[in-house]
Amino acid sequence: MLIRKNEKTDRTITVPGDKSIFHRAAIIASLTKGVCEISNIPQSLDCLSTINCLKSLGVEIKVSKNGICTVNGKTAAGFIKKTDILDAGNSATTLRLLSGILPSLPFSCSITGDRSLQKRPMKRIVLPLREMGAKITCNRIMTAPLHFDPAKTRAIRFVPENASSQVKSAVLLAALFAEGTTILTEKISTRDHLENLFNFTGIKIYRKNKLIAVEGPQAPRSFSLNIAGDFSSAAYFIALACCIDNYRITVKNICLNPSRTGLLRVISRMGADISISEAAESIPGEAAGDITVTGHKRLTATNINADEIPSLIDELPVIAVVATQASGTTTISGAGELRLKESDRISSIVSELKKMGADIAEKSDGIIINGGKKLKGAVVTSHGDHRIAMSLAIAAHIADGETNLLGQQDVRISFPDFFSVLEK
Ligand code: S3P
Repeated sequence: MLIRKNEKTDRTITVPGDKSIFHRAAIIASLTKGVCEISNIPQSLDCLSTINCLKSLGVEIKVSKNGICTVNGKTAAGFIKKTDILDAGNSATTLRLLSGILPSLPFSCSITGDRSLQKRPMKRIVLPLREMGAKITCNRIMTAPLHFDPAKTRAIRFVPENASSQVKSAVLLAALFAEGTTILTEKISTRDHLENLFNFTGIKIYRKNKLIAVEGPQAPRSFSLNIAGDFSSAAYFIALACCIDNYRITVKNICLNPSRTGLLRVISRMGADISISEAAESIPGEAAGDITVTGHKRLTATNINADEIPSLIDELPVIAVVATQASGTTTISGAGELRLKESDRISSIVSELKKMGADIAEKSDGIIINGGKKLKGAVVTSHGDHRIAMSLAIAAHIADGETNLLGQQDVRISFPDFFSVLEK
């Protein structure tokens, strides 16, 4: 795909519903005893992976053309084995979250994914789930496929080593089936959509600072939910607008949960012109609203440290793009988790932005960007990673000349219409 710079833009756009919320809502819906309706769902490959896995467990799910997903909840005891191996595709969220409920099903089953997902670390969920009594069989390095045999589980006290919402969510979902009160304390807070959905669906959950307690067994009640737009998809357009003089972009109805919006705090420190109008709620307890960003030429560098990383983990590649346009040196630290995503995102974004003329270097746990350099068009590749593809497309718009982006089809993982929105 060839991408060229635009001169002027004042646009209002929408992006798909939040992917993290959808995975969680669909899994919780399948555990209810009734019919649930989830609207504005993102029709992306990752979400399809969760839908297909749940269908393979006998859950009846329909998706209408206008993005409404109807789930006929079965409760875990009512799941039926339709296949021996569930396929989570490229979606770590699907694999890790479902692993929280697979130990408590009345039958054995396995879960795996594509080549990229099979390389990603699962020890972080296997160890706590085994401590809860889950019977999991896997290879020595604890990567997918994971095989689950039925087991009686019990509550644990757990402090996750990695700041990961997927790990937290797997354990909290397992807690719904475990005897006793599971207590999880995070070192650094991560996205809390599951906790908010627990509240929304009548599951009792206790939260104080970084401590979360869930008593099992408990089951959710059925619900209807309209998912707000995905901040991580909006991020590309927010980043684009703040880098170009004369650009103004408004992204409508975006989930503004602060555990997701670290990018806004970072670009605000860099001097970006942002205005937000809170209009509604996404999940009860999570605000949603419109974000408008107006571009100018005076961005300055900033530092991003470990405490902030979970609130912007998926936005770091596009933040690196923004930092190339800010005067001074931006340092991203404490982001080693980025090396364990769909690609090694530290090495992917650094190598590709270098091809475009950026002064950028890897650290073991982050990136150093000497900003204020003009980017120029180049032949760049996505490394099979949707977030790298979209970040490079934004870099291409900022750059002088033409960029040839290889791997553009990877955007289907989270945002199939990305290029048509970008064209707009
Ligand atoms: C996600 C959590 C994050 C994020 C991923 C989606 C989620 O992963 O990178 O894209 O929905 O829970 P970690 O929690 O492993 O950091």
